[in-house]
Amino acid sequence: MKLKHCFIIGASILLASCGKNSNSPQQITNQASPEMEQFVNDLMSKMTLEEKLGQLNQQVAGKINTGSPQDTEIGQALVNGEIGSVFNVIGIDQVHELQQVAVEKSRLGIPLLVGMDVVHGYQTIFPVPLGLSCTWDMEKIEKSAAIAATESAANGIAWTFSPMVDISLDARWGRQAESAGEDPYLGSQIAKAMVHGYQGDDLKADDKILACVKHFALYGASESGLDYNTVDMSRLRMFNQYFDPYKAAVEAGVGTVMTSFNIVDGIPATANRWLLHDVLRKRWGFRGMVVTDYASIAEMQTHGMGELKENSVRAIKAGTDMDMVSRGFISTLKTALDEGLISELDINKACRRVLNCKYKLGLFDNPYKYCDGKISQDVTYSKPHKDFARELTAESFVLLKNENNLLPLKKSGTIALIGPLTEARSDMAGTWSVAQDYEKYSTIKESFEKYLDGKAKVLTAQGCNLLSNAKTQNIIQQGHGTQPIPRVDDAKALKDALSIAKKSDVIVCCLGECAWMSGEGTSRSNLELPEPQQHLLKELSKLKKPIVLVNFAGRATVLNWESENIPAILNVWFGSEIGDALCDVIFGDKSPSGKLTVSMPRATSQLPLYYNSLISGRPVADGNPDYIIFNSNWQDVSNGPLYPFGYGLSYTTFEYSDIKLSAPEMIEIGSIKASVTVTNTGKVDADEIVQLYIRDIYASICRPIKELKDFKRVTIKAGESVEVEFEITSDKLKFYNSDLDYVIEKGDFELMIGPNSRDVKKVNFKVI
Ligand code: BGC
Repeated sequence: MKLKHCFIIGASILLASCGKNSNSPQQITNQASPEMEQFVNDLMSKMTLEEKLGQLNQQVAGKINTGSPQDTEIGQALVNGEIGSVFNVIGIDQVHELQQVAVEKSRLGIPLLVGMDVVHGYQTIFPVPLGLSCTWDMEKIEKSAAIAATESAANGIAWTFSPMVDISLDARWGRQAESAGEDPYLGSQIAKAMVHGYQGDDLKADDKILACVKHFALYGASESGLDYNTVDMSRLRMFNQYFDPYKAAVEAGVGTVMTSFNIVDGIPATANRWLLHDVLRKRWGFRGMVVTDYASIAEMQTHGMGELKENSVRAIKAGTDMDMVSRGFISTLKTALDEGLISELDINKACRRVLNCKYKLGLFDNPYKYCDGKISQDVTYSKPHKDFARELTAESFVLLKNENNLLPLKKSGTIALIGPLTEARSDMAGTWSVAQDYEKYSTIKESFEKYLDGKAKVLTAQGCNLLSNAKTQNIIQQGHGTQPIPRVDDAKALKDALSIAKKSDVIVCCLGECAWMSGEGTSRSNLELPEPQQHLLKELSKLKKPIVLVNFAGRATVLNWESENIPAILNVWFGSEIGDALCDVIFGDKSPSGKLTVSMPRATSQLPLYYNSLISGRPVADGNPDYIIFNSNWQDVSNGPLYPFGYGLSYTTFEYSDIKLSAPEMIEIGSIKASVTVTNTGKVDADEIVQLYIRDIYASICRPIKELKDFKRVTIKAGESVEVEFEITSDKLKFYNSDLDYVIEKGDFELMIGPNSRDVKKVNFKVI
């Protein structure tokens, strides 16, 4: 069954149906045109208090059904002007129907703002955001967001709850899949690219939609990687490690911000005035609308913060404008006003921000602008979109190991394709693919067979169960509306797999996570391959045949045994075109070029693990083999990651020259240049992602061992070299000091350039 209107979100189950910048990005949110002010003033002067509160109320909305809309609960609420926004409605007919009721049957005819979690594509699905980030390709990431906007806009959607920019250092947290990984600089570049991709320069354009940066703030720092868990962090760390991507989205003109579920400084983000008012609005100048996360106001009661009315008051006073599904604003704020707990100004401010969004999108000019069926047919999952998704998906793969150049494989002989993900069609798109239409997507098996037709023989077997726990697997898969990967008799499945493997020249294993083993509410305490999959791989490896492990993941996973025993490992991150993209890379039409944006640990217990850490007083080098007593290291595992941040192999090899500096010193407001020559020393043309890291050696507060400050993706022909140059300006050297001032401190800096965060060339310079 395709579960489209029945979508499980979060803890609650509800039924529902270095990018290019714009010329002046902040215009989109910051400039209130006189015409808009006039229009919204006029409209608000006609609105009753109830109608204003209605604009602040967001609901999940299924199809209204035929017949009188007033007959349904949602229809009646729309007629009464009690809903300002709905979300996760699939299909223009449904959107049209809802919009029609709001516009034609409610007293003032205010159009609805229709949102959706278009997190990595609408129906053309790109890799999960973590995978997208592994491309480090800002132009293409922006284009993926633009395609998502085009398809969404053509299907009734005016607003996406994306980009998610939460820094994520702990892969036990399943929502790492939706993030850009562990780095604030890279995360900021991606945030900008995505906001511009969705919104463009003019929100009134037919193919542009409103973006929503989420989850503000610090959601990725949930203790022990347990979803929705407590966050407790110093403000210094917030500003230096976590805030930049949100701020970058604001600077790029993001129209809306979503609060996070978690507590910040003891107060849930949704009611945290310091966060929403002092930081977001005052310090960063955000002028757009703030929406809560799903039921966040209601959940404050569970957090131990009192009743719905009290919490609704707290939320609106903190700066929250729209209440996602809690029904707190609509049901309690009138009484709160009567009791003097809030003022009419509080409600007016929020209402104005909601109406401004609708105005900027042009919904008052044409409420049906997103409901043109002809455009929908032309653009949804169109050939150009699919082709681009295939290209970008291939770019996201990270080659972790390739002993004796096992990859690329020959397009001949017999290939055994084994593993529970080989034929798992509905899992291919990955987590949070609300509008996916998986019947249109190929399985890995289908892609291989099509690609190798007439050239090589493909034999397939499931080989094992996805998980040993059938009940958990059932909850994961059926709960999210994906087709269950069949449960099999492990012994028989293994026998079948071994039998086809024996007849084959090479084994390709499609193992790892299914779609919803990462994403919301998917914390895992052990990030190794699930036990039945590990067993299968171990048995196959005993055959001593060449094996390629294709590791499906929505997070950093642990591949210790695999890295020692399996000759080739390719990490892949889902997407509707993953099957074809995999063929392009595995058979050598394209060289892999993705680089990790999260550190892959040696053991789950090392988490949180990240490259830009502070340095202890007794540090031990990464990878040091022996335990050192009274030092900062583990007794049972070496320090540092198995595969570091920024790491990824290619079918060619690159050599880096020493770094040349234009000068050994720079003045605070000046700049210097650093360059390296990168040579493609292999036999194929390929892309390399050249990374620049900087360390502030002495400062008034402890500074990280290194921080990414720039990168360049370059194409280098076999045998050729390119010079890659970076400009170091004061911005790359600044940090927030103990007073939270953004400063540069004079003194010694270390500059590093390399193919990943571990293997870098180094040079020192001074700021005078
Ligand atoms: C998630 C958000 C999402 C929202 C609406 C919540 O459970 O945390 O990321 O945008 O649901 O679907």
